[in-house]
Amino acid sequence: MANLDELREKISSVRDAIQKESANLTDSRMVYEARKSYLDKSGRIGQLMKYMKDVEPAQKAEFGKNVNELKTWAMEYFGSLDEKMRTRELLARYDMEKIDITMPALRRPVGNLHPVTQVRNELIDVFSGMGFDIYEGSEVENDYYNFTALNTPKDHPARDMQDTFYLSPEFVLRTQTSSAQIHVMENQEPPIKILSPGKVFRSDDDATHSPMFTQMEGLVVDKGITLGDLQGMLDVFVKRVFGEETHTRLRPSFFPFTEPSVEVDVSCFECGGAGCSFCKHTGWIEVLGAGIVNRKVLENCGIDPDVYSGLAFGIGIERVAMLKYGINNIKQLFESDLRVLNQINDN
Ligand code: DAH
Repeated sequence: MANLDELREKISSVRDAIQKESANLTDSRMVYEARKSYLDKSGRIGQLMKYMKDVEPAQKAEFGKNVNELKTWAMEYFGSLDEKMRTRELLARYDMEKIDITMPALRRPVGNLHPVTQVRNELIDVFSGMGFDIYEGSEVENDYYNFTALNTPKDHPARDMQDTFYLSPEFVLRTQTSSAQIHVMENQEPPIKILSPGKVFRSDDDATHSPMFTQMEGLVVDKGITLGDLQGMLDVFVKRVFGEETHTRLRPSFFPFTEPSVEVDVSCFECGGAGCSFCKHTGWIEVLGAGIVNRKVLENCGIDPDVYSGLAFGIGIERVAMLKYGINNIKQLFESDLRVLNQINDN
């Protein structure tokens, strides 16, 4: 038979062990493990119960009570230790996750509109302010809309002005947004005032030409439209895009679909017209082609040229972007090199 005092020794040695061990517990996970090792069924406190069979019957109740006391004490002991650890861990976490709201915010790089899109939007903004609607044509056109209806029949020498990508003898990748003029005039009675931006394609590739580029066509058809209207509108456009001090000059030119035809120059916005390397010492920079819609083109679309007249212009968007941002190779607009794009960001 086991002596109760000896057993009490064992009980108190378990208590001592717990207290001693607790000094090494540094986080709630360790407390949890230690608690398990004492308080689980097979834990050290549970194991004390196996001495019960050696205890004299009269002392069994006393022994059981002593073990239970130890158990209750251990539960409380581990409970408060756990709480202490958790509080400490929470404070450490607060400390780690502390945010200094007085710190300057990190700059996050955000995307931006491509310069060609920026210029395109800017032009749409300027012209829609003058009452223009947008018409988007299609990039594949048949020969009639791209050429013939624009007074450029087959074998017309002016077809050589544009190196065309033929998809078939009938269909082309449009070489100019001017084809949109025909679609609009076929479907709409004057007064007409449209702007048609879009991609165009030519077999052409050098520092200032790319096989794909963007144009913006303008067309106004009404009674009594003259070159004066054209110059007035273009003046507004160049002042908005290139600066208030700039103005335009019209030079005679040739396009089959306009008569008369003009090239439009803008006074050099680098030197103010005095002459510099940017404008090749002429004081002027060519920005677009325009003219009074040829009578034949109006007739082709069923519009009476004795009643109505029209003006048209075609702007090369990349050209405007290159002038505006001082880019000398059109490829830079298509290579998406962030070092270049970041420099020409307006925003
Ligand atoms: N379509 C011409 C080109 O691509 C540009 C142009 C010139 C358009 C005169 C016009 C215009 O509407 O009137 O070179």
